[in-house]
Amino acid sequence: MSKKSTAPALAPFLSVLALGLLLLVLGGVFKRNELRSWLRRSDEAKQAKVYPEPQARTYAQAIQLPQPSTTKGMPLEKAIQERRSRRDFSDKPVTMAELSQLLWSAQGITDPETGHRAAPSARGAYPFTVFVVVRNVSGLEPGLYEYLPKTQSLGSLMLADAGQKLSGAGVQPGAQQAPVVFVLSAAYGKAQKTLGESAVSSSLLEAGHIGQNMYLQTESLRMSMVVMAGFDAAKVGSALSLDPAETVVYLMPFGHTGVAQPEAATVKGATTEALPHFTAEELSRYDGKEGRSAYYAFEGKVYDVTKSALWKGGLHYTVQAGQDLTGKLEGAPHGTEVFAGFPVVGTYGDQPTPTPAAVTAEGSEVSPYVVAGAVGAVVVVGGAGLMLLKRRK
Ligand code: HEM
Ligand SMILES: Cc1cc2nc3c(=O)[nH]c(=O)nc-3n(C[C@H](O)[C@H](O)[C@H](O)COP(=O)(O)O)c2cc1C
Repeated sequence: MSKKSTAPALAPFLSVLALGLLLLVLGGVFKRNELRSWLRRSDEAKQAKVYPEPQARTYAQAIQLPQPSTTKGMPLEKAIQERRSRRDFSDKPVTMAELSQLLWSAQGITDPETGHRAAPSARGAYPFTVFVVVRNVSGLEPGLYEYLPKTQSLGSLMLADAGQKLSGAGVQPGAQQAPVVFVLSAAYGKAQKTLGESAVSSSLLEAGHIGQNMYLQTESLRMSMVVMAGFDAAKVGSALSLDPAETVVYLMPFGHTGVAQPEAATVKGATTEALPHFTAEELSRYDGKEGRSAYYAFEGKVYDVTKSALWKGGLHYTVQAGQDLTGKLEGAPHGTEVFAGFPVVGTYGDQPTPTPAAVTAEGSEVSPYVVAGAVGAVVVVGGAGLMLLKRRK
């Protein structure tokens, strides 16, 4: 009987063994790499940036702000619905009450026992300070202030020309013109004590919460604000002589709404300078009924209230859109301040429309078909003329 070879029987066993060995070797290499990168990571963590904490500040003067209201204002849902970034500001000064309300919405202490504030903060670190550049607030000298939430007051940091200094730091136009600019500044060193490595990311998330509170509060006051992150933080910090441990993350210009908001004042191609002029007859077509826009005129300006829930269908309590309402506010529980959030879309009066060639009351431009037709006619007539001349020759 011939002896059977054992090699084929061993083959599967040997291949499994070889595969196992290969996996072991690869695993070892991978583990070593993983171990290396883990060591590198923990080395990096050991060398992670340590943020300094700002020095204690002293104030030339402490100014008490009026108590903020917690009961007035528009319904939250309406504020959410209507919130917009608004970048145009009127010359009207901001009042101390309006300033106080905004600062409270940003960082106000809403529970004095726990110290909790209007906006949330990771592990209650509260790394933010709101500095205020004041250009035009009634009853407050222009300059730089710090909001002191515990006492609902302002600490004056002097710098009478803070407004000019900020503009000199190359900030965007809104921040150069607004009567107030809130400067939201993070002290990462303060956050790092409780949050370690996530100090910066948590602070930036917190800025979003603060910004949204301020947006909604602004809307409720029917005023204007925009959050701006586009600026050179180092330039702004040094222009305002802030502690180097402070990092400015948002500039928020704030004030009363300027009537010349670009989107607001633009009616399908008409510029701010060339707003369409409405006659009584033209205005009456904007009565808000059957899906039409709702406009009214007041002291020579035409306002668009189509988006207002209070002017739905063109009827506002007893008042009908599509007409001049100058002098008819007597019965109203409000003054003209409620007009602020609404676009001015035209001028109003008796004189005939000084129609700039391309703009009608509807804002529609001369139809391209008309232009094309005119050009076509010139070509045809011109061509025919030339042919006639040629024939005569
Ligand atoms: C000349 C006539 C009037 C004009 C031009 C006018 C205009 C306005 C405008 C633009 C708003 C803001 C709407 C919004 O935020 O969505 C408003 C709000 C309001 N209007 Fe009038 N209105 C007039 C007369 C009246 C009358 C006669 C009443 C009541 C009898 C009235 C009651 C109100 C109320 C209660 C509000 C809400 C106020 C607030 O939210 O603070 N209005 N009005
Ligand atoms: C993180 C962040 C940074 C922003 N930076 C600027 C800015 O530098 N300048 C500006 O005009 N708007 C800025 N905005 C506002 C946005 O342009 C605005 O929110 C966006 O156009 C949407 O419009 P709305 O806020 O009216 O809904 C910023 C908004 C956010 C959330």
